Amino acid sequence: MNPLFLGVAPGVLVRESNDRFYDLGVKIAESGPEISAAAQDPANWALAAAGLCAAGAAVAGTHVASGPLLDLGHRALFRDPGEVLVGHSPVRPIGRRPVYLPISDRFTGVQMVAPMGQAKTSAFEWLAYQDLLSRLSVVVIETEGDLGKKLLPLAFWLGLPIRYFTYAGANDGAAMKWNPLAGDKVEAAERAVTAFVSAAASGDEQFFKDFNSVFLRHSVIAVCAHGEREGRQAIMSDLDRFVSVEHFRRKVLGVERDAADKRFTVNAKNLPRRSRDYWQYKYYGEFGKRERTQFVLGLHNVMDGLLAQEMVETALAPKPGEPVLDLAEALDSPGLTLVSIPQGAAPATSRLLSTWVMEYFRQAVLARGEGAYPVSAYLDEVHSMLGHANSEAALAFSSLVTQSRRRQVAFSFAYQSFSLLPSPLKESLATNARNKLVSGGLQGEDAEEAIRMLGQTEEEVRDYRRTMKGLLGGPGTFSVGRRRQTMPRVSEEELVYLPRGWWHLSRVRRGRQQRPVPVKAGRAPTPPAAYREAFEAVLDPEAAGREADAKETGG
Ligand SMILES: Nc1ncnc2c1ncn2[C@@H]1O[C@H](COP(=O)(O)OP(=O)(O)O)[C@@H](O)[C@H]1O
Ligand SMILES: [Mg+2]
Repeated sequence: MNPLFLGVAPGVLVRESNDRFYDLGVKIAESGPEISAAAQDPANWALAAAGLCAAGAAVAGTHVASGPLLDLGHRALFRDPGEVLVGHSPVRPIGRRPVYLPISDRFTGVQMVAPMGQAKTSAFEWLAYQDLLSRLSVVVIETEGDLGKKLLPLAFWLGLPIRYFTYAGANDGAAMKWNPLAGDKVEAAERAVTAFVSAAASGDEQFFKDFNSVFLRHSVIAVCAHGEREGRQAIMSDLDRFVSVEHFRRKVLGVERDAADKRFTVNAKNLPRRSRDYWQYKYYGEFGKRERTQFVLGLHNVMDGLLAQEMVETALAPKPGEPVLDLAEALDSPGLTLVSIPQGAAPATSRLLSTWVMEYFRQAVLARGEGAYPVSAYLDEVHSMLGHANSEAALAFSSLVTQSRRRQVAFSFAYQSFSLLPSPLKESLATNARNKLVSGGLQGEDAEEAIRMLGQTEEEVRDYRRTMKGLLGGPGTFSVGRRRQTMPRVSEEELVYLPRGWWHLSRVRRGRQQRPVPVKAGRAPTPPAAYREAFEAVLDPEAAGREADAKETGG
């Protein structure tokens, strides 16, 4: 990249002009699917044109070096901030036209199917880059892949706020912490239960053997209530102590017992009634000592499995003053929110944590009102997070996809193969993620399914028929028959041999499904070296350390 741009700081320029851009976006987004009316309003046109000239100049400037993708003429067609340019579609005989996805139509979901190496991540990077420019709230949750790694320097370059949570490697203060027990105590308990139950149902980890979800729910509520009484947020270490130290448990619940050590009363004031009843009448009332020990042991084993790696406990237990991930807030403001939970050394831990974060995300989305700040969420390699190994979580998540539109969340999913998705998620995507991008290189059943997904058409075919009359006989007959036949809109040939970086795009426009068109996707620019280097220490601490050592010894 041209070093000149370092001095120009293009992000600042673009940001400034995009503010106006964005205000218009809010206005249009508020009017919902009736976007055409707003777009046709001459007042909005004038406003958009003014913004566009300014933005166009800045954007054209930035793009000279990165690819002549957004020329001013096409920029003038941007009626809808939050709209993204997917790429260009060829027009016969020669020529091409830009293909856009407006934000209102992206609220109906985008899905992308492509085998490994067919530029899924690059395409998402391009779309997310434009979302960052339009000042949407961009959310990336990943357990695999390098989308986040690519977006961090881009967001930094554009001068946008970055909220980054990871548990692996980067706990040197660069990343935020996340407290899964923060917020409303009943919600905290619910998301813990869903995450743990899903992990218990899907995995065959030994430590889930004696796990009991009712016990977990009431433990979380008790610990959160205790934190409340002390005027702070409960943290994972409290829950850990609650299950491992009987003395602490009694303190948290305010347990008193009679002289014979037979009858217990639970005195904690701010426990919800059902929770208090559970502790007093079930746990300390009905259950014998052996059952109690077993419940405690079950949760203890899970916590032990989860917190065995010290860095997990560090990442989940923020100290006072440390920055903490707050999704509700993140969804309501521009910038990049990245949650990266790589599978790495402990896949069970990663699965539990990613499910937990997804639950958190789900709650945050469902809590949004209509007309909330527009969000664009990317789930790259979604099968690694919500695949067969985590089908319970996938089930919980699929219901969210249907509800995202009214809550102004544009989901984009990418996955490698249909067979990798559990059927509830697959069906939910099939009906709800209506903008579809299919790459070349899909094989066998995936190719068949993709062709089905791209739709069919009726075509007229002709049959020719010639009859002969014997060897030396007179003239035969010749007839032409016509009939209609259903044909796939995209043939296997057209699908399989599509080059990398190209997509068959079947999109929705103003609520109507469009015929698939081949599109060559754009590519995000590479931020200048200084912006990339700023993240090297975060993303690859070992490499950065080696470099620093080399410099020391060299200098
Ligand atoms: N439009 C494109 N044309 C050609 N090559 C591309 C294009 N987009 C990406 N690539 C290259 O393809 C490779 C794989 O891209 P990536 O986005 O990581 O694929 P995936 O996420 O599907 O595995 C990368 O080396 C990238 O540079
Ligand atoms: Mg990828």
